[in-house]
Amino acid sequence: MATGQKNANKPTPTEIVEPKGKLGILIPGMGAVATTFVAGVEAVRKGIAAPIGSLTQMGTIRLGKRTDGRSPKIKDFVPLANLDDLVFGGWDIFEDNMYEAARKAGVLEKELLEQIKPFLSSIKPMKAVFDKNYVKKLDGPNVKTGKNKMELAEQVREDIRNFKKTHKLDRVVMIWCGSTETFITPHEVHQTVKNFEKGLLENDENIAPSMVYAYAALQEGVGYANGAPNLTTDIPAMHELSRRNNAPICGKDYKTGQTLMKTILAPGFKARMLGLNGWFSTNILGNRDGEVLDDPGSFKTKEESKLSVLEHILQPELYPELYGNICHKVRINYYPPRGDNKEGWDNIDIFGWLGYPMQIKVDFLCRDSILAAPIVLDVVLFMDLAQRTSELKGIGIQEWLSFYFKSPMTAPGLYPEHDLFIQLIKLKNTLRHLKGEELITHLGLEYYD
Ligand SMILES: NC(=O)c1ccc[n+]([C@@H]2O[C@H](COP(=O)([O-])OP(=O)(O)OC[C@H]3O[C@@H](n4cnc5c(N)ncnc54)[C@H](O)[C@@H]3O)[C@@H](O)[C@H]2O)c1
Repeated sequence: MATGQKNANKPTPTEIVEPKGKLGILIPGMGAVATTFVAGVEAVRKGIAAPIGSLTQMGTIRLGKRTDGRSPKIKDFVPLANLDDLVFGGWDIFEDNMYEAARKAGVLEKELLEQIKPFLSSIKPMKAVFDKNYVKKLDGPNVKTGKNKMELAEQVREDIRNFKKTHKLDRVVMIWCGSTETFITPHEVHQTVKNFEKGLLENDENIAPSMVYAYAALQEGVGYANGAPNLTTDIPAMHELSRRNNAPICGKDYKTGQTLMKTILAPGFKARMLGLNGWFSTNILGNRDGEVLDDPGSFKTKEESKLSVLEHILQPELYPELYGNICHKVRINYYPPRGDNKEGWDNIDIFGWLGYPMQIKVDFLCRDSILAAPIVLDVVLFMDLAQRTSELKGIGIQEWLSFYFKSPMTAPGLYPEHDLFIQLIKLKNTLRHLKGEELITHLGLEYYD
């Protein structure tokens, strides 16, 4: 390959501040996902378990040509916080400490939890910002009071500052692991920071609790990752605040279980130009998330997030004869006996050569929180990296983290990229770009020069 061509592809490295000191992880919602994540990190730190499913811990990244033999681990390539430097805190409407919450969530075995009991028991939830109108199925005693939502936001800001001071932290990232809130659409109050602050003072009903946390985080210069399908940061006011305060945002809704499978299978059908008539997905799950999603308002928020995936992958507008008429249905059934061990069935009606129909059945006996925990870890480590990176911290939405989410956030007007493999290339190319390495296009003609 000509040198000029090579250099055109090779960016100059971006300035990245080294991760010194401790990184605080603040989590609104200390239920199944949060406890599985925190307990898992501690188990890994103690050498009792491996961080399987985590790209930051296990993944490698190819640099240069295929013949160069350079494939360092991602965590050795970009300066990520070390697991030993993570400190955890959070909020919940229940008073259970993380050990008790993990026992109730029933995801991890008692034997593992006992080995890290003192550590987990030491993490106690701060009082939450909560509004039952947003999560109809839950109610708890550990809740903040204040004369308006601005006062609640001030209290969360104080929590963040205290947490930072008490644990002598260098940096903090916030990640939502709380329940799915009821479905809402953007209003006037969400349009600008000014409107939003007026709404906080006037207790505007369109400001969800998750937005109060996000506002507090962004005001403190703390990045916010949205693990649920909530509207939270998908509003212009948050985009504005995020850019203004160099506090990155990303989301939304962790891509686990059935949607993960969808974003693995659907790109394959499209790549081979196989048609699709219908995709019926149903789930049974019995954890608290399932109970919350039993409420039609919360389910609608989830449904929107799950349904959007296929359309963006299959692009029916480009392939009307293959994907122009798809029947896509998603059901979630709360079925307590299953606990966190969800079962997701998919019936996929595809068609091939000359229109001949075929069927695929997927029965995924999955563990939701086991799939979500490594995502939480990767997202907080990458968000911390973004906060320390000159080129990323001020851009607001971190689209390069789409890989982890069911409904990836994008710049207004830009359609999201849902294909898991494109998302992975995008993520890795972002890392290469930051470090001034050549982007990998997979062209490969140079091997045949
Ligand atoms: N597990 C997965 O695979 C997965 C995938 C994608 C998204 N999610 C989302 O992640 C979130 C957490 O899932 P989970 O299985 O841990 O649920 P969970 O019910 O076990 O935990 C959620 C916790 O949030 C608390 N909570 C609710 N509102 C709160 C508030 N305003 N402030 C503080 N705490 C609050 C609840 O009391 C509960 O303890 C849900 O929104 C879920 O939809 C989970």
